[in-house]
Order: sequence, then structure tokens, then C-alpha cells
Amino acid sequence: MSELHPAAQHHPHTEWFDTARLGLFVHFGLYSVAARHEWVMWYEKTPVDEYEKYVDFFDPDLFNAREIARQARAAGMSYAVLTTKHHDGFCLFNTAHTDYNSLHHQGRDFVAEWCEALRAEGLKVGLYYSLLDWHHEDFTVDFNHPRRNDPSAREDNARKNFARYREYLHAQVRELLSNYGTIDYLFFDFSYPRVEEGWEGKGHKDWGSHELEALCRQLQPDIIINDRLDIPSDLVTPEQYQPTSPMSIDGVPVRWEACQTLNGSWGYDRDNTAFKPISMILRMLADTVSKNGNLLLNIGPDGRGAITAHDQRILHEVGEWMRLHGRAIVGAGASSFTPPANTVYTQRGERLYLHVFDWPFGHLHLPGLAGKVRFARLLNDGSELHMEVHEPSKEALATRIGGQPEGTLTLKLPTRAPETILPVIELLLSPDAL
Ligand code: GLC
Repeated sequence: MSELHPAAQHHPHTEWFDTARLGLFVHFGLYSVAARHEWVMWYEKTPVDEYEKYVDFFDPDLFNAREIARQARAAGMSYAVLTTKHHDGFCLFNTAHTDYNSLHHQGRDFVAEWCEALRAEGLKVGLYYSLLDWHHEDFTVDFNHPRRNDPSAREDNARKNFARYREYLHAQVRELLSNYGTIDYLFFDFSYPRVEEGWEGKGHKDWGSHELEALCRQLQPDIIINDRLDIPSDLVTPEQYQPTSPMSIDGVPVRWEACQTLNGSWGYDRDNTAFKPISMILRMLADTVSKNGNLLLNIGPDGRGAITAHDQRILHEVGEWMRLHGRAIVGAGASSFTPPANTVYTQRGERLYLHVFDWPFGHLHLPGLAGKVRFARLLNDGSELHMEVHEPSKEALATRIGGQPEGTLTLKLPTRAPETILPVIELLLSPDAL
């Protein structure tokens, strides 16, 4: 067990994560007021003192953690992750190590509200913490820093004491994992140990990752930690792309979670309407589960902290689909059967789920399933689908379907796709198919 990569190991305390399959990511902070992407400070090379003005105008009167948690649960999600501090350094929690925090300025500890709300809704509690910090005076400038093009930044770096930042980072993580009860999941973000444009990036030595991880496990023995500390950890985190097969390291399958935005931006980005359609989001979800992954779907509450009307609609539609199709997702994973074109399989025990991305006319031919399925039905309404096996030697005639390769099971489909965004067919396998 111990030589296995941590992301390949299963423990009783990772069980919830391995079955959850769908979670909510929430990016919220000062940048929500700028409403031009959470990297706005980097894009616009904004000096700290100028960026700090957002503190005075950050007044999220509509941020309602309970409402977010309710909508996440109704969307079929069982965990959620909030940005406690993003790269801009502003903290949404009560910290003794800087005044640059929401309790000091807004009189609210959003992390406390978050943890309480999630527990009240029965969700697992996830926190995001940025390793980068564009506000801390000892955080050295690099290519991922707003001051990357500032000629005086290199000299300034020589005066900075990064060890002091490292202490700050550890001290804040200690606060997050000591003051808010059980934290189920910690999402660190992120490492970039390479040289670019003459700047040194940052990796595990800079963060003191081994020590930091040990601290997390000491404070929260059952916590799940992502892999962005630049050391192997409990899961890998593909971002803004979909893996093409179940993820593995050295040939061993690993736990993974794809995190995805709704429009390419994590934080509220008012003028960016390049939204993924709901059909794409549901296909991404099915695709993820068909490869044994989780999907962490992001929303960016607006400058007042409200979930935007668009994001509410998406969550609602995900929820409507999950209400009818959740059992093809939650607790399900990859199948060893090969799906036909434009479909994916997810499987949970004897139940095999065929997610049909593009509804074909009349028939669906399922390789290798002849004689292995006891019953087939549409999942949205539970209605039976007829099954047929067409001998390979049978010739196709004017109105007669031709033979199919040995072992193929043919489903007869209604001409009209069921009225759901992503139709799913449930196949009950016979015991000898398992
Ligand atoms: C990236 C970005 C960041 C976002 C994160 C989510 O690393 O820097 O803005 O929070 O991904 O995974």
C-alpha cells in the first residue's frame, strides 16, 4: 500500500470523495468587484496600493453561503470549495497575521459562514488557499506576479525575506484548519517550479510543502489534499481540459478531479459571456465519471456576492438533470465495456449507464453486450427499451436491418429523443456479465 502514489490509495476517509463525483467551486473575493477575471491585478499590472482600494468598495451584502449551499445540494453536488484567499492575498477569514481580511474590513468571516452553511446542508467542506500572494511584502516577484515587468522588482526581490512569507503561509493554513471544525478537502493553488523570462518560479521548496502537508494531516487527519503543492498528494487536478482516458501515474490509476469554469474565468467576469452551454456541461460531467473522475464546477458570485442569474440557471438545470439521472453519476465510475460512437458508459455494480450525446435514429448497437443485459430502459422515465440480437450472417434487406458483429446487442430507440438535455439508458446487467 505505502509505495503506491497517494492518489492511487483508497481509505475509508476518501470514500465520500470517490463517490461524490460532482462538487461546486466558488471563486469570490475583491476581484469580484472589479468583475474582470480573478487575475485582474496581474493582467492590468495593478500596484498593491491601487488594488487595495477595492477593500473599501467590497460590500457583498448579497453573499449568502446558505443559499449557495442549498443550490449546490439541489444541483446534486455533495461538496463545495471556497476561495479563502486568492492570488491577490485578500483573506475571507479571521486571521491574526494580516489586516487584509474580510473580518477586519467588512466585519464578516466568510469562511465561518461557509463552513456552517455547508454543514447545515449536509455538504462536505472544501477550502481553497492560494500559495501565491501578490499582497504580501515578502512574496518575491516572478513571472506570475503583477510586477513582472517592473524594472525595480528584481532589486526589491533581493530585499525580501521569502522565509517570512513561508511562515505566514503555514500560519494561515494552521488557522484555517484549527478554527473552523472539520475541513474535508483542501485545494492548494498552485506551483510553477520553472524559469521563465529570467524569473524563478516556485515549488515545494519555496512553500515548505512536506512540512505544510504534515501540518495539515496533523490538524485534520482525514483531510483530502490536492496535488498543487508540487508533491504527490491525494488527487490530481486537471484544469480547463478534459482528460482523454482515466488518469494514471506510472500506469497506476489515480484519483482525479477536473475543475471547470462556466466561461473561462473563475472569478466574476461581467462582460465575458462565452458560456459553455448546459448540454456541454452535462456531457463533461458524464465524460468525467466515465473516466473515474470528479467534476468541480465553478461559479463566480458577483460584486455583491450574489450568484448571477446565469449561474443560477445552470445550477438549476444541472439539478433537474441530476434529479432524474443522479444514479448514473453518484457512486458510478468507468466501465470495461466499449461504448458506441457519441456515447459514454458509466457503471455502478450491475447497472450500466449509456449516456447518449447524439440521439441516433432507430437503433443503438452495443458491442459485447448480447446476452448480458436483463433489462434496458430510459432513465428519465423508466420506460422499457426493446433489445434484439441480429446474427452477423443476416443480410440487410429493403426494410430489414442487417447482421451485427458477433456479441452485439441492439436497442430499439424511439425516434424522438426523450425530453432531457442528455438522455441516459440504464442497462441491468446479468450476473455473468460482471
Ligand atoms: C488556476 C488559476 C486560478 C484558479 C485555479 C482554479 O491555477 O490561477 O485563478 O483559481 O486555477 O483551479
